[in-house]
Amino acid sequence: MTQQHSGWWRDAVIYQVYPRSFADGNGDGMGDLAGIRSRLPYLRDLGVDAVWLSPFYASPQADGGYDVADYRAIDPMFGTLPDAEALVHDAHDLGLRVIVDVVPNHSSDQHEWFKRALKEGPGSALRERYHFLPGKGADGELPPNDWESIFGGPAWTRVTDPDGQPGDWYLHLFAPEQPDLNWEHPAVADEFRSILRFWLDLGVDGFRVDVAHGLVKAEGLPDIGGDGDQLKLLGNDVMPFFDQDGVHEIYRSWRRILDEYPGERIAVAEAWTPTVERTAHYVRPDELHQAFNFQYLGTHWDAAELRGVIDVSLGAMRPVGAPATWVLSNHDVTRHATRFANPAGLGTQLRAAGDRELGLRRARAATLLMLALPGSAYLYQGEELGLPDVTDLPDEVRQDPSFWRASGQDGFRDGCRVPIPWTVEGESYGFGAGGSWLPQPEGWGELSVAAQTGDPDSTLELYRGALAVRRAHPALGAGDAVSWLEAPEGVLAFERPGGFVCTANTTDQDVRIPVAGRQLLGTDQVLVEDGEAVLPPDSTVWWGV
Ligand code: GLC
Repeated sequence: MTQQHSGWWRDAVIYQVYPRSFADGNGDGMGDLAGIRSRLPYLRDLGVDAVWLSPFYASPQADGGYDVADYRAIDPMFGTLPDAEALVHDAHDLGLRVIVDVVPNHSSDQHEWFKRALKEGPGSALRERYHFLPGKGADGELPPNDWESIFGGPAWTRVTDPDGQPGDWYLHLFAPEQPDLNWEHPAVADEFRSILRFWLDLGVDGFRVDVAHGLVKAEGLPDIGGDGDQLKLLGNDVMPFFDQDGVHEIYRSWRRILDEYPGERIAVAEAWTPTVERTAHYVRPDELHQAFNFQYLGTHWDAAELRGVIDVSLGAMRPVGAPATWVLSNHDVTRHATRFANPAGLGTQLRAAGDRELGLRRARAATLLMLALPGSAYLYQGEELGLPDVTDLPDEVRQDPSFWRASGQDGFRDGCRVPIPWTVEGESYGFGAGGSWLPQPEGWGELSVAAQTGDPDSTLELYRGALAVRRAHPALGAGDAVSWLEAPEGVLAFERPGGFVCTANTTDQDVRIPVAGRQLLGTDQVLVEDGEAVLPPDSTVWWGV
């Protein structure tokens, strides 16, 4: 059984599984629940506390399952409801908690509500659960406002009414197959409270809330204006469709539901907000438990920048009493081993492989730094193998809807979704017995779990070692502050309770510092000369003092 201790999530290391790409149990080339279930012991041995599963619900897969047609059903491609129950049960037996994705901003266009809304035509009560509006222009031929889809193109699609005539437009902040729900409608709020209960009753330990910042739109859906380059604005401003204050009432009602259940069920917000201070609003004591720290994810491998974002993150969370969170990779961004292989400043959606050796070295150092910080850390499947993005996927195999809608600015999310290599050789390198839905590159097997297991220099063993130390010394993830130590330019050094010092050299040169203690773990073996430690370029070391 899962251990019951207070605040388990405050310093938890949570491993994201993207079900399509983790492990394929039935040999159809697509990952599934049976595959995940069979690999749970691997996750237990890795040393994580919880698993977050990206969506496995019934879905036409227009956006990798983030287009849900039935929130209470498992897509047959992933298995059945009994498979989900068995997975949760097995995970708990192994001491792992399970967090599932909930996608409340939009449904699939194949959801029963939306299908009926279209079929019943104008005046259908179901249309009020989405954002249907007449177009502008003489014949309604122009979208109702100037909003753009995050995936490129207008955020509106015009429907054809049952009589064959062009009708109203509906809002979709993402793909046209993902119509936005109208959260002003009480039936929508009721339905999601019921969906939460459904999964909590099944035993899940919490939720990752997709597009948590998007549910409420500014009254009247006002135009944004400007030069039309909305995607650039997203980073800096509160948009009329994102981070509206009204979302918080929703999360207060969700928190009351979570608190009704035993065992500390939690929710983590995927909330892209302009500042960490605004992110902190989502984790006030009566709202959600955690929010992803995307400012950290976007930070370059640079000591001064890292220190700045660490301080700001801890400072923003402290007043609301929520743990800081840390994340370097997920299913939406280029893996950090590839981001750090490229010059800084290119963003988080890259097509270039860059200098792989450099990228891996920095990625390992960045991870070890992250795991020494107070709070909770999120890992994305495959990062423990040091996987890079697959940057040369041919266009015809790509499935990311934004690739097809964007005008070159992004859309490369398939590169971080290539199925995981488990074995050195064999069909899809042990992913399954029937190929893999995205092609795996040649040599993928050299990065496999089997190839790295037992090799003390491997990235997998580095992760295992770091997580073991973190488990043995809970002080490492506890608290809400770090004590910075003096360090040369380009080097971070900080102390953690329980006799730990972490040093990270972000420069491309050896840097000498006074010996900080006994080397517990590091990306490299550090040479000690005359009382000085020589930190190699792009390295992190944990010291016991
Ligand atoms: C979130 C998901 C992403 C998805 C989008 C729309 O950002 O992480 O994968 O495309 O929401 O649901």
